[in-house]
Amino acid sequence: MNQLFDLSGKVALVTGGTRGIGNSMARGLAEAGADVIVTGRKQDGCDAAAKEMAERTGRKVLGMACHMGDWDQIDALVTRAYDTCGHVDVLVNNAGINPAFVTVENVTSEYWDKVYGVNLKGPMRLAALVAPRMGQSAGGSIINVITVGAYFGGAGVGVYSSCKAALLNLTRVMASEWAPLGVRVNALAPGPFDTDMMRGAAAAVPGFSEGAAAATLQKRVAHPDEIIGSVLYLASEASSFVTGGDLIVAGGMH
Ligand SMILES: NC(=O)c1ccc[n+]([C@@H]2O[C@H](COP(=O)([O-])OP(=O)(O)OC[C@H]3O[C@@H](n4cnc5c(N)ncnc54)[C@H](OP(=O)(O)O)[C@@H]3O)[C@@H](O)[C@H]2O)c1
Repeated sequence: MNQLFDLSGKVALVTGGTRGIGNSMARGLAEAGADVIVTGRKQDGCDAAAKEMAERTGRKVLGMACHMGDWDQIDALVTRAYDTCGHVDVLVNNAGINPAFVTVENVTSEYWDKVYGVNLKGPMRLAALVAPRMGQSAGGSIINVITVGAYFGGAGVGVYSSCKAALLNLTRVMASEWAPLGVRVNALAPGPFDTDMMRGAAAAVPGFSEGAAAATLQKRVAHPDEIIGSVLYLASEASSFVTGGDLIVAGGMH
């Protein structure tokens, strides 16, 4: 049974692996046997997260800086990842931002481009570079992190939730295009998790955390490590016949 989730010999690339649920996912993948690349915007932050994770898991963990809103940096990340590790078997497009609560009539061109750049254009570009290379080796698994809000939106988060909804659609497109390569592509939709992003929202909107907790059936906000089982399932042979799907991890929030 353990072999279903075993990632020995695999390399997993987790964007936004320095903090939050990306950090938990990267550690979980390492504990399942994968070597891991974690990314964030700054090299020193990536190095610190990688060092801590390597000491904790005993795996090889590398930090590579890459701003997900910068097309050229994404190209450079892929070159560096393949030069260093030789292959990437699991890609988790996790890095994401929701910098502010902005109603539709207050959205600026700059705000739209920033959020869509990091949350949609960057993940698409990274997947587009990695999938053909996965196809040239043993195939792979791509996991696009969206949000439960992608299904219903909400006041003040239209830019954030709409680009995540687009990433869900793009997940199905990618799954169709890359199934012949042996590459599976699925979306992972978290509900409320206790991370810096969540704390930022709570600081901006009084009662945000309490409201998010109340909207779940379990009446709580999750610990970041509660995402690990789901990412291991989607990354591993345990989900070998699952592609073009979406897995909601939201305590019953709908
Ligand atoms: N927390 C929740 O309740 C929740 C709910 C639904 C969906 N999500 C989704 O889950 C994902 C992770 O969220 P989180 O709550 O863990 O966020 P977080 O705690 O704010 O962490 C964000 C991660 O992304 C990195 N990052 C931020 N901007 C980046 C950029 N421009 N380029 C590259 N990396 C960047 C950060 O690294 P550096 O600071 O080192 O750059 C950090 O590692 C996001 O896609 C988010 O939309 C979260």
